[in-house]
Parts: sequence; C-alpha cells; structure tokens
Amino acid sequence: MTRVLSGIQPTGDVHLGNYLGALRQWAIDQHDADAFYCAVDLHAVTIQQDPEQLRSATLGTMATLVSVGLDPEVCTLFVQSHVPQHTELSWLLECTVSLGELRRMTQFKDKAARAEGGDQRGDHVSAGLFTYPALMAADILIYDADRVPVGDDQRQHLELTRDVAQRFNSRYGDTFVIPDAAIPTVGARVMDLQNPTAKMSKSSESPQGSVGIFEDPAHVARKFTRAVTDSESEVRYDPEVKPGVSNLLSILGAATGRSAADAAASYSQYGVLKTDTADAVIAMLEPIKAKKAELDADPAELARIIAVGADKAEAVACVTVARAKEAMGFLPKQPQPKVSA
Ligand code: TRP
Repeated sequence: MTRVLSGIQPTGDVHLGNYLGALRQWAIDQHDADAFYCAVDLHAVTIQQDPEQLRSATLGTMATLVSVGLDPEVCTLFVQSHVPQHTELSWLLECTVSLGELRRMTQFKDKAARAEGGDQRGDHVSAGLFTYPALMAADILIYDADRVPVGDDQRQHLELTRDVAQRFNSRYGDTFVIPDAAIPTVGARVMDLQNPTAKMSKSSESPQGSVGIFEDPAHVARKFTRAVTDSESEVRYDPEVKPGVSNLLSILGAATGRSAADAAASYSQYGVLKTDTADAVIAMLEPIKAKKAELDADPAELARIIAVGADKAEAVACVTVARAKEAMGFLPKQPQPKVSA
C-alpha cells in the first residue's frame, strides 16, 4: 500500500485555504493509503515561540486534524517531537545535504530576509531555520513515504528531499524510498477574500480576508458578503481577469463538489453568489465544528489519540533510523545480559 506523509505547522488557526487546499485531501487519502500526518512542532521553533502558546497551538492543531475527519483508527496522527527519531535522522541528513543546497532554498532566503528586516521576534535568524529542510526530509524519509501532499511553496523542499535520499542511497546503499510530491490542483487554491491575488494565509494583512474553519457562522457570512469582487457584473470563472469572483466560484465549487466553471453557470449576480458561497461553506464546516466541540469537552480522549499516534509512528521510525545508522557505519549498540549480583 502507498505510504503518504504530510505535516502542518502548529501555528495559528487553520483556515479555509488549509482545509480545502490540504486537510480535506488528507482525510480522503487516509482511506486509500497508509497515511501518517503530524503537527510539526520542531519546525515551528525555527522561529522563536512562546512556550505556553506552542503547547496550546500543538494541542489545538491535533484537535483540528481529528475534527476535519482524520481518523486515528485509520491513519497515524502524531506530534513530531514525540518521535525523537526525527531529530536523530535529521542530523544524519544534515551531514548528507550540502551548504550550497540549503542556501538555494527560497523559503529560507525569504524568511531570513524578513527576519533581518525586523518583522520577526528578536531579528534573529536561527541555524534551525537554515537546516529546516533536513528535518523535513527526515520527516518524510523516516516513514518510507511514497507520496507527500504539500502546497506549491514546499515543492523545492521536496526536490531537496529526493536529492538527499538519492545521495544517501548511492553512498551507503539502498536505504530510503524516493518520495514523490503531490501538489494539489489549482482548483484547491483558496485566495484571500480581500486581496484575491494573494493566497489566503494565517498572517494575512486583513483578518477579513481569511476565514477560520471554526469561526462563528455570522462572521463567515459577513466576510463573504464583503469579499472583494470587481466592477463588472458578469459571473464568470476567469482567475486572471476576475480573481475575486473566480475565488468565490472555486470555493463554492469545492464546498459543493462541482468545478468552479460549473458553479458559475447558475449565477448572474454577485450578491447571490456571495450568500450561496457563504451558506455552502458554513454547511461544510458545521460537522467539523461539531467534532471539535466534542473533543474540547473530552481532553482525555485527545490525549489518548496523541499517545497512540506517537507509539505507532515511533514503531516505524525506529526501524528506518536503525537501517540508516547501520548503512552509515555506526557501531550497533549490543544489549548485554544483566549481571545478577
Ligand atoms: N514545511 C512544511 C510547511 O511549512 C511543513 C512540513 C514539515 C512538512 N515537515 C513536513 C510537510 C513533511 C510535508 C512533509 O508547510
């Protein structure tokens, strides 16, 4: 069976873009693949985090993953830092990747430039931010993942993961599975409601542009009513010329299981398109909110799910890391019989 792995950073609330662009697909994939999904808290600390906030965001992210339909009985759901082999393998891969390869990562260049520009806490660029792709490669290779569903912004990290795995295999013998990226189709790309040429994001300039999946329905409705469109009046799917209207159509289509172009055929007015899109989104989010409320009322159940996931993930991770260490020439640790007194 195909192995799938993906990760989400436990920072901020999950929005419609995360759900339609990624999490919804994760929930589908769990049924036809052996799926591993994690909250990547070790990646989150490449930027300084408030400890209390990191803890609650990690818990919140795990609750969100369950709420969107990831079933801990069907897939393996875990917190990255609960599986210590990730950091162990990351070191082996840091010694396999080159400085030049890491330097070419555009995400590092962007984040470092922003931090140096003073947007980030303490104007501090950690070494972890630089070696981040080695940790991400470890996340993937440790589960022998065949397929990695990620957004387009992670394509370069995936390519690097493949290169590092290939280099390791050619140096030390066949050890890792070479993973393929699974980049979602453009249809699943949700844009900011206020600035429809930019992707919906957690750090959007206008909170009105981003819709959280647990947001109050009245807020959701208001955000759609105020969504930016254009000065024409024709409802047509044309992302280049009509990014706002096209975004509404792709959201409506995604929420009702149609293509954006099909959704367009039923509308002639922006107002009705907006209210119908809001209604479809609210209906789609309702069961997710209900599941979240259920989990919030039962913290012991969430803790149990997290513990089970860690054990399942670690059982797999141990085997791969032992294989990689042996291939590299580390001396195996021999258990000695206990000497009785
Ligand atoms: N870097 C990814 C992001 O920022 C998160 C991530 C970490 C990830 N490890 C991963 C994604 C492994 C897929 C597979 O979105």
